[in-house]
Amino acid sequence: RKGKTPEEVVKKYLQKVKSPPEEDCTICMEPLGGPSGYKGPGVGPVSRAESVGRLAQCGHQYHFQCLVAMYNNGNKDGSLQCPTCKTIYGVKTGNQPAGKMEYHVIPHSLPGHPDCKTIRIIYNVPPGLQGPEHPNPGKPFTARGFPRHCYLPDSERGRKVLRLLLVAWDRRLIFSVGTSSTTGESDTVIWNEVHHKTEFGSNLTGHGFPDPGHLDNVLEELRAQGIIEDDGLME
Ligand code: APR
Ligand code: ZN
Repeated sequence: RKGKTPEEVVKKYLQKVKSPPEEDCTICMEPLGGPSGYKGPGVGPVSRAESVGRLAQCGHQYHFQCLVAMYNNGNKDGSLQCPTCKTIYGVKTGNQPAGKMEYHVIPHSLPGHPDCKTIRIIYNVPPGLQGPEHPNPGKPFTARGFPRHCYLPDSERGRKVLRLLLVAWDRRLIFSVGTSSTTGESDTVIWNEVHHKTEFGSNLTGHGFPDPGHLDNVLEELRAQGIIEDDGLME
């Protein structure tokens, strides 16, 4: 992916549009038939023929320049996400800071999962300095409540979720840096869009067991980040 310009990345996922529809671009709210409303830095002129593009898989259409501007606003990892339907092009990665993910099986059952043991995941993310991919580059960030312990049933489905969480960790999608909705603290490590159960034997926080829908919810949240098991075969 390195070496590709933002324009090249965006083009890779687009089909040409001969005559743009009489609709507004939902990125800049200007008509698709006219120029992009985006006049930010780093967006060069494009010829009229390629000024509107259709995302190849989902079909949503935008000004080419608007997509390039959106890409430049993100972490520029070679992937693109449709702002309308969230379809992911390429491999989405996040801005999770450096840290460690470990797991092991503990010989106890979770409420609602009496027939199996439990997987405990331990996340450790130390505080540090924000990089260019974070909201305030150069500024420190805090890290509260680490190590964070999380629990999954050690069942077939629980182990599947664990496999996908390991992929999410490698793609830096488990945590982010921002403002905690629980504490209101800014510039701190926060959970990203994938829910974890942090309570073991009870459910006082709402982040415990039993919760019959939990594994399905997590699989859905992982899918929204582009993380799926491609088929039923074992690796
Ligand atoms: N356990 C698991 N998930 C939680 C918890 C919790 N105790 N508290 C909030 N979440 C979920 C929220 O439901 C939301 O979807 O994390 C998401 C982001 O919430 P924030 O409050 O912004 O995240 P963060 O500050 O990282 O979490 C607050 O979670 O694990 C604990 O120690 C951590 O006390 C801290 C709390
Ligand atoms: Zn536009």
